[in-house]
Amino acid sequence: MKQPITLSINGQDYDIVVEGRTRLLDAIRDQCNLTGTKEGCATGDCGACTVLMDGKPITTCMTFAMAAQGKELTTIEGLARNGHLHPLQEEFMEHGGLQCGICTPGMILSAKALLDENPKPTKDEIRFALAGNLCRCTGYQKIVEAVVAASERS
Ligand code: FES
Ligand code: FES
Repeated sequence: MKQPITLSINGQDYDIVVEGRTRLLDAIRDQCNLTGTKEGCATGDCGACTVLMDGKPITTCMTFAMAAQGKELTTIEGLARNGHLHPLQEEFMEHGGLQCGICTPGMILSAKALLDENPKPTKDEIRFALAGNLCRCTGYQKIVEAVVAASERS
């Protein structure tokens, strides 16, 4: 049965209608038109669909849209400010931390959650925090270097 819900994403309310089984991933992409959030495995394993819910990374392919009511969601579209990319976005570009880009929004949001909690992480802490985000292009080292560089700007 369809029900109206309100999702708060990047500080904006979205009034949408979903079924009980509607995935948060589909609600964000198809109903809120925020297509920066990507679908990879659809089984909770790759992290491509990661967004922040109340500041914590979650996999939206494994979360029902209804469960996100009353929560504050952040997607990759919410990181730029006043026309300027977030330092993590700039450093991913600078250090070659992305190629095909499928993993990148989730990777950056997981890194943001880490830096918000631990502004100067070690490389091991960065690798641990990003362990749930898989990348088959970059080999990870450039991603770690990008997060280190972003941490040095704060
Ligand atoms: S698409 Fe959600 S974890 Fe892979
Ligand atoms: S840049 Fe292609 S999967 Fe990471």
